[in-house]
This record gives sequence, structure tokens and C-alpha cells, in this order.
Amino acid sequence: MSETEIKGMLLDKFGELFGDTDGVKVYFAPGRVNLIGEHTDYNGGHVFPCALTIGTYAAARKRTDKKLRLYSINFEKSGVMESDVEKLEASKEAGWTNYPKGVMWAFSLRGMQMDCGLDMVLYGNIPNGSGLSSSASLEVLTGYILRDLYGFTVTNVELAQIGQYSENNFNGCNCGIMDQFASSMGKKNHAIFLNTADLSYEYAPLALGDAKIVVTNSKVKHSLVDSKYNERRSECEKALEELQSVVKIDGLGDLTEEEFEANKSAIADDVRRKRAKHAVYENQRTLRAVEALKNNELALFGKLMNESHVSLRDDYEVSCEEIDLLVAEAWKVDGVIGSRITGGGFGGCTVSLVKDEAIGEFQEKVGAAYEKQFGIQADFYVVEIGDGPRTL
Ligand code: GLA
Repeated sequence: MSETEIKGMLLDKFGELFGDTDGVKVYFAPGRVNLIGEHTDYNGGHVFPCALTIGTYAAARKRTDKKLRLYSINFEKSGVMESDVEKLEASKEAGWTNYPKGVMWAFSLRGMQMDCGLDMVLYGNIPNGSGLSSSASLEVLTGYILRDLYGFTVTNVELAQIGQYSENNFNGCNCGIMDQFASSMGKKNHAIFLNTADLSYEYAPLALGDAKIVVTNSKVKHSLVDSKYNERRSECEKALEELQSVVKIDGLGDLTEEEFEANKSAIADDVRRKRAKHAVYENQRTLRAVEALKNNELALFGKLMNESHVSLRDDYEVSCEEIDLLVAEAWKVDGVIGSRITGGGFGGCTVSLVKDEAIGEFQEKVGAAYEKQFGIQADFYVVEIGDGPRTL
């Protein structure tokens, strides 16, 4: 569906549900794909994501009372979900609306209380559960809309921080800031080299020559994703504490590989040592990968992507057999520069760098092997890198 069609669909739905479309505005915030730097963002390390041209759209208008009426075309069955901007509480029944509500709640904690309610119709074109940050795009979108409609003063970096804060404290997922930052700070044809220790960042032009970024959706999402995610995070926190008894560091991202090797015996448990090793090595790989891209060394960039996958599979243990097969098959295809799992893990998508002339063969071979093994048709997207949130 084109953007014009999406806009038309949102306005039609808005009119149907809420009477008319006078003064309604339509907004967009993107999802993201991470090229390298996985599970480093809550370890004070670096990440290298970019915003996609798919994401979440909303048609929104302020009300005169305190009512909040939210409707998603993706979750039609839930119907219009009604609540009150002065009583924002997370609940199981609230489903997806916990994300926008969490952001409104986080704004109010910062002294930005909505003085009236809102009607909003949403539609997202990120495949659900694919690990391309549909929730972060919804958080950033909500923040962007609040800023526009209520005149709140917040920067785009703050939109990312508020989104992360609400996801941590309202929705109970201890995520880092990468997804929200990639969505709120996205820039067309650029990846964002972000240091999560201090939020300093640089845009890196994605000069990929005759190659493209291909995202492959495994269409599997294993359960317990959030709890496993939180578990990895606490394993890293514990390992950091143990390391801090022997070296002066603020995060695992402060260590080089050599420093880690020299001090790793301070970590009492094998599993925690593997987790910390991933965080340290992955951060260093990210620094090298960004350098490689600057120097036009795409083959090196791809090799680092592959090493990232191995580390996420073996040391961090956030992959799964479906994703491992997609990656292993990708590696076999001539013209694949690099391929790895992307995002939080336990299913979702892989990201591959593929030469133009090999994209057809890549989709055919990887798709066939995947379907043969798991009976699932993977989806392939040759992605475009887009800008951050905007008003249509
Ligand atoms: C999820 C989280 C991010 C990040 C990635 C792993 O997407 O939301 O903060 O930790 O996993 O890199």
C-alpha cells in the first residue's frame, strides 16, 4: 500500500469511528534494522542501526474532554479502546494500547500532562513480532504526536529516552535505547553510529556500492522473549559488578578484548563470562565495522556481521534454529557479503548484505532451504533506509 493509500485508509476509519475528520493530522514514525552492535546498548556499548521506511502511522486529533480513544487497524478485533488521560495504568487487557499510554504517562512524569484527551487511529506496516521495532516506532510516534498537538518542548533524543523509559517502567521490558533512538533520529540513507554510554552519535552514509540490505523474516517468535531478554540484561549487570571488583569501568563497553581476557576470571560463572564476552567483543566489532564502512571495506564489514552472529548464537545464546538456518544458508550464497540475526533475538529477522546480482538467487536458495526444513515461507525485504518521525 502506498503512503497516500495508508493516509486515506486512516482518515476513512477515523471518520467512521469518530464522526468526522475536521482538523485530523496524520503522522509516521519508522521501525529500524540494526546492522551490527547487538545487545550492547544496555552495556554502555555502541550500536549501528538505521531507520526503515516502514513503521507506524496514526491519524490523531485532540478532544475537549479527558477521554482517550485508541483504535488500531492491525488489531480490529479489540475495537476502540477507551480510557482517561488522567488515569493511565498498564494492564493486560489494554494490550497494544499500553505502549501509547506508557508514553503519555512518561510525559506526565516529566511535568507534561495532557490537558485534554485524544482520538487516534493507528496502522503499522511492520510485520508483527518481526523484531523490526514496531513497539519503538509506536512509542516514538506517540511522543511526536504529543509534542505536535500539545506543544510540549522535547527534542527527538528525548523522544527516544521517554519511549525507552515508558517501555522499561510501564511495559516491563528492560530494553536499551537503540530502537527508540533509531526511530526518532533516523536519517535517509544513513546508519546511526550511537555510543549508548553518553548518547553521542554520528550519521554514517550507507555507501554500499552494488549491494543492498536484505531483511529476512523467519516469521517465528519464540515465547519468553521479554523474560529471556531481561535475564540476559541481569547476567551482564552481575558480570559487570564482578569485573568492577578488579577494573575501574562503568560498563562492559569500556573494555577492549585484551582487557576483558586479562580480567575475566573475576566473573565467577561460565555462563555469565560468555555473556560478558559477547558484550565486550560485539562492541569492539561495531567500532571496527563502522571504520570498515568508512574505508569502503565492505568485505570486512560483512565478516564482522558474520562474527556477530556466531557470538550471538554461541556466547549470548539469543538465536534459535530457524534463524541459524537462514544465516547458514545465506553464508553459502556467492554475493552475500555478510548475514546475521538482528534485534533482540529468539526469532524475528536476519539482516544480510547482498550484492545486487545475487539477490534473486539469495531469496530462492535461502527461501527453499528454510521451507524444506521448517515448512515456513520466509519473507524477504530489500529495505530502504528512511528518515525519523514526520507529519504527512
Ligand atoms: C531489542 C531492544 C534493544 C536492544 C536489542 C538487542 O531490540 O529493544 O534495546 O537491546 O534488542 O540489540
